[in-house]
Amino acid sequence: MLITRRERFNSAHRLFRDEWSKEKNFNFFGKCSNWHGHNYDLFVTVKGTVNEETSFVVNLKELSRIIKQNIIEKLDHKNLNIDVDFLKNKIVSSENIAIAIWGEIEPKIIELGVDLYCIKLVETENNFIEYYGKKHKQ
Ligand code: NI
Repeated sequence: MLITRRERFNSAHRLFRDEWSKEKNFNFFGKCSNWHGHNYDLFVTVKGTVNEETSFVVNLKELSRIIKQNIIEKLDHKNLNIDVDFLKNKIVSSENIAIAIWGEIEPKIIELGVDLYCIKLVETENNFIEYYGKKHKQ
């Protein structure tokens, strides 16, 4: 069974490759090469079986605590290009943010006795990505 917890954060970023000129960055990334912000929705989906004793796949309070401590507190009201240790030297696209989030929380989620199944990151109402981990090559 899959179960999903949503958390939200608000962050500033820009898509900018330092090796490129400002003009080349603008030509490729467009307005996203300028500083701007998003209200992100982060959906963390885990996979497991229903525990007969608790009747839960996972305790959502525990899952929420892991996401908040390891991700939300580090990203919310921050500049993703500058302030976040685990995003240093990365282009902070939704793709790269999702891969980095996976790396940060997967070991902690396994400790809850379930598998991390999907990181879905909604950047705008029109744009979102889903990451299923390295094993799935997606
Ligand atoms: Ni953006």
